[in-house]
Amino acid sequence: MRIAVFASGGGSNFQAILDAIERGDLSAEVVTCISDRPGAGALERAERRDVPHHILSPSDHDDPLAFGRSLLEILQRHEATFVALAGYLRHVPENVVNAYTGRITNIHPSLLPAFGGPGFYGRRVHEAALERGVRWTGVTVHLVDPVYDNGPIVLQEPVPVLPGDDVERLAARVLEVEHELYPTALRLFAEERVEVDGRQVRILDPHPN
Ligand code: GRF
Repeated sequence: MRIAVFASGGGSNFQAILDAIERGDLSAEVVTCISDRPGAGALERAERRDVPHHILSPSDHDDPLAFGRSLLEILQRHEATFVALAGYLRHVPENVVNAYTGRITNIHPSLLPAFGGPGFYGRRVHEAALERGVRWTGVTVHLVDPVYDNGPIVLQEPVPVLPGDDVERLAARVLEVEHELYPTALRLFAEERVEVDGRQVRILDPHPN
């Protein structure tokens, strides 16, 4: 599996994917990292690991489809077979989603469909969970479709909200789980163990060797 990672932020999930590959837990290669923000920590991590990286912003393009064509050109150049969004804050253009249907995933720091959709990103997700008083939040890895945070759910893991939590404490507890769950989900794709039927995702048993 030749993964392209899209990241806008610090890139700790991107790092977790690189580390899982290095440990031999994920049989894949990260062929490129694409960010919309020149200062993104993810780009520094890419630089350190010699992963080819690109900065590409929707604001440099006339419309979403033109932005999508530029993304597709980079994905094709690196022969990416899979796209992993890891803290990517832009809406992925429809032409990219269509070209990678069933092969593009996102990680979200709540149990979707709670606290998802436009406006729910980064610390806002955890603020909303704390404000609502939920006892459990968690992590979701889902396939990407044209609607924000909407595609079929691949894996979820609950995380408790504990007395005295603030956004920072809760985000740190959730992030720790993200770093385990995303490589695990990608491994299922690499092993061709994900079967999608509409909204239902079935995880197949490992292939006997
Ligand atoms: C993570 O919480 C991820 O779920 C969300 O944005 C955050 C990114 O963290 N989409 P990082 O850039 O991977 O460190």
